[in-house]
Amino acid sequence: MTSDDPDPDPAPEPTTAWPVGLTTMGFGGDYNPEQWPVETRLEDIELMAEAGVNVVSLAIFSWATLEPREGELDFGWLDDMMDRLHAGGVRVALATATASPPPWLTRRHPEILPQLADGTVLGQGGRQSYAVASPVYREYAAKMAATLAERYGDHPALALWHVDNEIGCHTAHDYSDAAADAFRVWLEARYGDVESLNQAWGTAFWSQRYGSFDDVLPPRTAPTYANPTQQLDFARYSSDQLLSYYTLLRDTLRPITPHVPITTNFMAAGSKWMDYFAWGAEVDVVANDHYTTADDAERHIELAFSADLTRGIARGKGWILMEHSTGAVNWQPRNRAKAPGEMLRNSLQHVARGADAVMFFQWRQSKAGAEKFHSALVPHAGRDSQVWRDAVALGQALKALIPVTGSRVEARTAIVFDYASWWAVELDSHPSVDVTYPERMRALYRELWNRGVAVDFVTPESDLGGYQLILAPTLYLVTDEGAANIAAAAERGASVLITYFSGIVDQNDHIRLGGYPGAFRDLLGVSTDEFFPLLAQESVTLDDGTTADVWTERVRLTSAGAVRTFTDGPMAGGPAVTRNAVGSGAAWYAATRQDAASISWLVGELLAESDVEPVVVTSPGVEVVRRTGADGARFLFVINHTDGVASVPATGTDLLTGTDVQGEVEVAAGGAAVVQEA
Ligand code: GAL
Repeated sequence: MTSDDPDPDPAPEPTTAWPVGLTTMGFGGDYNPEQWPVETRLEDIELMAEAGVNVVSLAIFSWATLEPREGELDFGWLDDMMDRLHAGGVRVALATATASPPPWLTRRHPEILPQLADGTVLGQGGRQSYAVASPVYREYAAKMAATLAERYGDHPALALWHVDNEIGCHTAHDYSDAAADAFRVWLEARYGDVESLNQAWGTAFWSQRYGSFDDVLPPRTAPTYANPTQQLDFARYSSDQLLSYYTLLRDTLRPITPHVPITTNFMAAGSKWMDYFAWGAEVDVVANDHYTTADDAERHIELAFSADLTRGIARGKGWILMEHSTGAVNWQPRNRAKAPGEMLRNSLQHVARGADAVMFFQWRQSKAGAEKFHSALVPHAGRDSQVWRDAVALGQALKALIPVTGSRVEARTAIVFDYASWWAVELDSHPSVDVTYPERMRALYRELWNRGVAVDFVTPESDLGGYQLILAPTLYLVTDEGAANIAAAAERGASVLITYFSGIVDQNDHIRLGGYPGAFRDLLGVSTDEFFPLLAQESVTLDDGTTADVWTERVRLTSAGAVRTFTDGPMAGGPAVTRNAVGSGAAWYAATRQDAASISWLVGELLAESDVEPVVVTSPGVEVVRRTGADGARFLFVINHTDGVASVPATGTDLLTGTDVQGEVEVAAGGAAVVQEA
């Protein structure tokens, strides 16, 4: 299977796609009792009840505790924890314990260690020190998963399988000999014969022609630029290889516990290398981890982006926030605690955008180890702390939101997201290093967020039928099918926006000849014969006084009209933003990197033209999202990220306070309301 092809062998169906017995909003976190003495574990169960915790992820990093020496198993403590959690009414997402191989395993089989492109072998002593392609590691990991499934398959606490942990987080790319073998197998499956590979990789260039698959290697460090399609295929292979490790463990667990759903936790907004749209189809329920960045003043918008992207990966269905933090993390340069109310707002943002469970890394803050300064629900200070009081308050809020469980977010605007395009557009030797992904996407998203417009994330090949406005930023690589799908949406009446350096190459990273932006030339009614990227610090002015940087190009209008032109710079007088009437819709082209004011103008035009309305009219910094139940119940989330009181039109009951709302809900600075609308 490749990222571009449909899965020929669909996943076996689970009996249920939601954690067994988790019937309300989930609340909990990673629980690592092996780090604590029994007295603390007993206190944990009491505190979980106090906070209203109803689900924990257990045994994620427990392999070395469960099997301290090869074949010597010690399950006593886990048996005890499963029983105690069950007695305390806490459901368990039980991990396969494979996220970090035990020291005896890497000593006995050093060939399972992953390798960097430059040949450096990554040692044991941190975590995730395994080569995902290693048949030896896979065998050991599958054995541990099977052992756990056989032991706990019938345990009444078992609600969900948590396979490994953030697969690919530290080792998205492995260049070991095991990887080289697996890459060749993957390439043979993709291309069939080596001549097809030569065509796809354009190996007539630089004497790279292969006579046999045996000669092909991963793109290890070379004297200069490695073949771009080799790099792109290695990215595809790596995502597929990591996914196949997940499916191996899933398919090991499934026959033993067909009644238990299976997942693994994604890192949707933070990770470039896993094609989560493909991965989403392989998990029973999508679970995501998200951490805010302390020095990002707009981190609440970045969070919303992550949550909406996760819902897209879940194809609109409910999903689990598997990890976020109560306060500081330990892995940023300066790890600041969250501001008062921020943890609650963050949690509600995820719920507003489709999460039906809010979980944290981790339950109790570690006393030792690399993450001892990472926040948790139970901090070092213990119960007498703001963090604990906030945790208890969150538990109460989530209880009040039980009616929201299972409802969905609806949107008429779609943003097209494509991992292969991301991998390809950021390869080396391009016109400008400043063209990155998903930078334009975030700029457009930010504007929609500020206006309270609901957004779905889709792939170029998704069904676009329900969308009136479709934004396809930096879609450098696009398949014929994807390009046709987007064009068809404009034909039937949608407004489509394409931004610069889109439609440039096919799935092999070969230029679409005859003028840029090849795949979208006809749709957009423009043709470009040359790029004029701007130099660092250079900017240009548009005819409405707004500015742009990074990119210009010589656009010739074939059927489109220029809506904005450049007044200076290398393309002075030429089109900067164009619009082409297409069928019952329109296709817009942004040929430069517009500033925030220009983006705001453009998004305003697009919303007006496509009749897309905000959820409710809001002011900047006041987040509004609506979830709608299958029975028509409507829940309006209003999250105030500003320093002032916010008023938003609404009528119904605020579930968080139980108060009546007539015509308008007033939300304090930094506060939130969830109105069940009348
Ligand atoms: C995640 C990981 C957790 C923990 C957390 C810290 O990436 O899954 O185990 O390390 O980060 O923020």
